Amino acid sequence: MTLFPDEAQRRALFPVSRDQIFLAHAGVTALPQFVADAACDYTQQSARNPQEFGDVLRAVKETRQVCAQLIGAQADEIALLGPTSLGLSLFANGLDWQPGDEVLCYHGDYPANVYPWIDLRRRGVTVRYLEPQGPGEITPELVAAALTPKTRLVALASAHFFTGYRIDLEAIGSLLHDRGILFSVDAIQTLGAFSLDVEKAHIDFLSADAHKWMLGPLAIGIVYVRKSNFEKLRPTLLGAWNVVSPQFNALDEIRFVPSAQRYEPGVLNIAGILGMRSALEFLQKLGIGAISTRLLELKAHLVPKLEEMGFQILGPGISSPAASSITTFRHRHAGSAKLFAALENAKIIASLRYDRENRDYLRFSPHCYNTEAELDATLEVLRVAIP
Ligand SMILES: Cc1ncc(COP(=O)(O)O)c(C=O)c1O
Repeated sequence: MTLFPDEAQRRALFPVSRDQIFLAHAGVTALPQFVADAACDYTQQSARNPQEFGDVLRAVKETRQVCAQLIGAQADEIALLGPTSLGLSLFANGLDWQPGDEVLCYHGDYPANVYPWIDLRRRGVTVRYLEPQGPGEITPELVAAALTPKTRLVALASAHFFTGYRIDLEAIGSLLHDRGILFSVDAIQTLGAFSLDVEKAHIDFLSADAHKWMLGPLAIGIVYVRKSNFEKLRPTLLGAWNVVSPQFNALDEIRFVPSAQRYEPGVLNIAGILGMRSALEFLQKLGIGAISTRLLELKAHLVPKLEEMGFQILGPGISSPAASSITTFRHRHAGSAKLFAALENAKIIASLRYDRENRDYLRFSPHCYNTEAELDATLEVLRVAIP
C-alpha cells in the first residue's frame, strides 16, 4: 500500500516525480525537497555567519545519534564520512596485517569493495574470492566453506549492486563471530531500505554513502567502527581533528581522540551532514520496516509483468528472502541500450548496466515513494519500444 496517498504531497516531497519517473536509487538518488532545503539553508546561513556557527556543531552531534539509531550502534561509534570507498579503504588500510593473513571478498562486487582489499597484497595478505553460483548470490554456506584458519576478515556488500541479491547479514555475521573473524560490510545498497543491526549481525566495520537508499547527498555517509575495534583499526588519515592537538598546536606524538571521530581527520562536510540528517529522520519516521514492505510490494508488481513481456530477470525472485528493490533484466531480442534510450526519451530514469561478458541489462530501483502507476507507465514505454 502506498505510503504517500496524497499525490500532490508526494510530488512536493519528491520534486523529481513532478515531470519524471525516477527508478535509479541504486545509482544516485535525486534529493527530496527537504534534504535539498536542509543543505541549502545551511549554505545560505553560511554566507551570513562563519560556517561552523553556533548550532551547527550541535546538529552534527545529533546526526551521529540519528545514524547510530539507524544501524543499532552507539553515537560514538559513528564517523561522518563519505564516499563509501573512503570508509572501506580506512578499514583495509588501518588493520595490522601480518604476512599470510587472508581476506575473503567477492571479485564481482562493486569495485569500491574490491580494490581496497586486493591492494593488501602489497602487505603480504592473501586475497580469496567467493565464487557464488550467480552474481552476488552469497550465502552463509558459501562463506563458511571458503573460510580457512588464516581468514582474518570477510568483506561483503549487504546487497549486490547489479542483481540486488541481499545477503543474510545476521547468519553470516554470526558464523564469523563464532570463529573470531572480522566482518566488514559495504551497506550502501540496503541502508535506508532494509533494516540492519550491527549488533545482531556482528558487524565490525560498516561504510555507506547517503546517495542511494538513504536519499541523501553525495560524498557524505556513515562509517561505523565497533568500539572494541578502535585500537585494532588505526586511523590512516591524520589531521588536527582526530589527533589530539591542544589549541591547534601539534604535539610530537600521535594520540587519537577517544571516539570514532578518530577517523575524521579534519573539518566536516556540514551541508552534506545536515542533508543526510533530514533524509534519515524522514526515513525513520516512515519506518524502515514499512519502507522495505513497500519496496517488495513494488517489485512484486513489476516482475511478473516484465516476465510476461519476455524479459529475463537476473537475481532473486520476488518471494526470495534475498529480494531487494533492485530488479535487473534484459529482453530475449530487444537490446537494453535501445530500451534505455526509449525510457530516457519518455523522461524515465533507469540504469543501464553491463555484465562481465558485456551483455547489457536494464536495472530498475524504485524507492518507497514510487507508485504502481509509474511502473505501469514505464512498462508501457518498454512495450512500445520492443520491436
Ligand atoms: C555496492 C556499492 N558500493 C559502493 C558504491 C559507491 O561507492 P562510493 O560511495 O565510494 O562512490 C556503490 C555504487 O554503485 C555500490 O553499489
